[in-house]
Amino acid sequence: MFELTEAQQMVQQAARSYAQKSLAPVAAALDREARFPRAQLRELAELGLMGVNVPEELGGAQAGAVSYVLAMMEIAQGCASTAVTMAVNNMVAETLVRFGTPEQKRRYVPEITSGRFAAASYALSEPHSGSDAASLRTSARRDGDDWVLNGSKQWITSGDQAGVIIVWARTGVAGSKGISCFLVEGGARGLHVGKHEDKMGLRASSTVPLTFEDLRLPAAALLGAPGQGFHIAMAALDGGRVGIAAQAVGIGEAALAAAVRYARDRQAFGQPIANYQAIRFMIADCATELDAARLLVLRAAGLKEAGQPFTREASMAKVFASEKANKACDVGVQIHGGYGYLDEFPAERHYRDARVTTIYEGTSEVQRFVIAREVLKD
Ligand code: CAA
Repeated sequence: MFELTEAQQMVQQAARSYAQKSLAPVAAALDREARFPRAQLRELAELGLMGVNVPEELGGAQAGAVSYVLAMMEIAQGCASTAVTMAVNNMVAETLVRFGTPEQKRRYVPEITSGRFAAASYALSEPHSGSDAASLRTSARRDGDDWVLNGSKQWITSGDQAGVIIVWARTGVAGSKGISCFLVEGGARGLHVGKHEDKMGLRASSTVPLTFEDLRLPAAALLGAPGQGFHIAMAALDGGRVGIAAQAVGIGEAALAAAVRYARDRQAFGQPIANYQAIRFMIADCATELDAARLLVLRAAGLKEAGQPFTREASMAKVFASEKANKACDVGVQIHGGYGYLDEFPAERHYRDARVTTIYEGTSEVQRFVIAREVLKD
């Protein structure tokens, strides 16, 4: 079941080797210093990991959606902050491939896949609209052939680092049908980057608010058709959610591996704590749940790769993997005892990093809403 092809194994192996040799040893320092992993992202681009599921002619690895999640699980084990930056870059590149004009693809996708753009961003959320994305207020009004953008975005991953930002704005009626989608270049006149958010976890990933003040865009900056924006946002998030589910599995597995190492070393009452059933049961449950999460992620990615609908499976993978990753990280801290609470050990970083996976790219509540709707539709 789920035999990996030789090509998938190669991508997995390349990502694993990079994650273990080059990311894991620096992840704690990147986190502590809240340092954007610019050099690491460039190296990931050289490995083809900034466009795993992007055609070769646009600089991608053209290795498919399954290879992408395999790579994401490995990179997240090494450094979860680097992984989320990679996840958003891949999501933006794939969205451009799917909805962009030939000129938009040529102009931006190779910049992302090559690493010449340090990052790319997806700007949907606003201070007043997170889960209720269709209520966004940023506006784009027509002025001759141009569009003029005004408003603000919140929680934008890599918003200050991005060469290109997909921005959703209202161009028509209230609700989801009045939303369109635009490509804004980093450094554009009228684009203001706010203060870095001081986050609980993923501290080496950059998160900023953005403001648009009479930002003028040419007609060619429209992505898709007017009014198609919400559909593009949701389609992008279907794929994005599988990526975040894979990230969560990676974080959970890193937390479990650290807990197992510690449990073998740590002595209590004359023997390693790994000998005690209390510890063994915790490890057994987490290992089982993370394996199940991995299978849900692979199934969703497999459907995506086969060109079949996967909205429901993406949300199932996201809600399950993120919640089980949080549990594994919690158990990881518990097994470390007092040491789990100190930054000398990686357990507390994993715990902080995992926390947001049940929130971003759609909360667990939004995922359950999507799953229930799909189940009831059948
Ligand atoms: N694919 C394509 N189209 C879709 C779709 C999908 N998966 N889901 C919905 N749509 C379409 C619907 O068909 C509908 O189209 P029609 O009107 O033509 O029928 C339209 O979109 C509106 O859909 P809904 O009625 O479902 O819209 P809603 O207002 O009820 O919202 C929601 C549903 C699922 C709650 C949605 O708003 C949502 O997903 N919210 C969460 C937003 C989110 O995940 N934000 C994450 C931000 S990005 C991020 O975190 C990235 C990062 O930095 C790490």
